[in-house]
Amino acid sequence: MALSIRAKALMFHDPRSAELLEQVERIAPTEATTLIIGETGTGKELIARHIHNVSGRRGPFVAVNCGAFSETLIDAELFGHEAGAFTGATHARSGWFEAANGGTLFLDEIGDLSMALQVKLLRVLQERQVVRLGARTPIPLNVRLVAATNVDLHKAVAADRFRSDLYYRLSVATVHLAPLCQRPGDIIPLARHFIGVYSEKMKAPEASLSPAARLALLEYDWPGNIRELENVIHFSLIVCRDGVIQPDDLKLSGVSRRRPREEPVAVPVPVAGARAQEGAAHDGFRQRLAALVNGMIEADQPDLFDTVEEIIVRTAFESCHRNQVQTARVLGISRNILRTHLKRFGLIGYEPAGQGLPVEAQAAARGAELLQ
Ligand SMILES: Nc1ncnc2c1ncn2[C@@H]1O[C@H](COP(=O)(O)OP(=O)(O)OP(=O)(O)O)[C@@H](O)[C@H]1O
Ligand SMILES: [Mg+2]
Repeated sequence: MALSIRAKALMFHDPRSAELLEQVERIAPTEATTLIIGETGTGKELIARHIHNVSGRRGPFVAVNCGAFSETLIDAELFGHEAGAFTGATHARSGWFEAANGGTLFLDEIGDLSMALQVKLLRVLQERQVVRLGARTPIPLNVRLVAATNVDLHKAVAADRFRSDLYYRLSVATVHLAPLCQRPGDIIPLARHFIGVYSEKMKAPEASLSPAARLALLEYDWPGNIRELENVIHFSLIVCRDGVIQPDDLKLSGVSRRRPREEPVAVPVPVAGARAQEGAAHDGFRQRLAALVNGMIEADQPDLFDTVEEIIVRTAFESCHRNQVQTARVLGISRNILRTHLKRFGLIGYEPAGQGLPVEAQAAARGAELLQ
């Protein structure tokens, strides 16, 4: 079905993500146990599935959430059991490892594994075989293991909450998924992707994003990463009008983490360093702007130059309460040039020269116009 193909589409447009995808596809066909590290909602499970899909392994993909284990049944879950192995075991059952034989076992939230379970997991990894509870014969395993974590396992190892021997066995290959705000080039393609997916689900025509909505998406910090973007787009499709998503339709939590991006962070400096600090802030601003523009380029923003100009002019004009003199000053352009732009973007109609100036300046401006 079209929807399922679309729902599985991978969006890796930012150069950083494209590089990551290449790395993942190089790791996938190998046998290497892989550890995926990333904040919540960055696409860890999607990457694990992709690793399986391109690995060439014919067996199933089995996903297990390590945070949802019942300690008492864990042996049976991991290794499986024969009928009658314990009270209530009426049927024989295979464990996860056996179920994933020939395929991939995805251990999600590996950082939540208790110390006792870590020991058991390590044993299976070392022996590469399982013996069902109540059975004698070991079952040889051919399972590719992929684990995921959103916690810093290094720190967990240092704090004796995670066994270092297990950590090293799991992290033969590691994949770091960057937070969404550090790969701005993915934001708009992902937003469009989710618009497609949810429009199809809602059996509604595809909505578009207004330039201001696109900018709001690019400027937001996305603490909940791609999952949050998905939810924001889904909601915006429900509330938007006339098939155009406006900034107000985007229910952004407003909690902006303002994390350090790849830009200099302003730090307190002694008075002599004030100029350097100003310079660093300026560089930071330029880098941030460049990242936004890059995001728009990656997103194939049509009429990029016009859109950016319009946003600059419109934002300045509104923030100066539609005062032309002030707007021209904050933008660092002449009032004549400003007026040309204001007309181009329909922000003013034709007005006699000098409108927006104090009365005496209006007269002077009209006089200047007559002389031209
Ligand atoms: N590159 C991508 N292209 C398209 N969709 C993506 C991409 N990355 C993530 N998604 C989608 O974003 C959502 C979250 O992804 P996923 O569940 O893999 O993240 P996660 O890191 O496992 O999250 P959590 O930590 O909350 O378990 C899913 O709906 C997934 O399909
Ligand atoms: Mg997940």
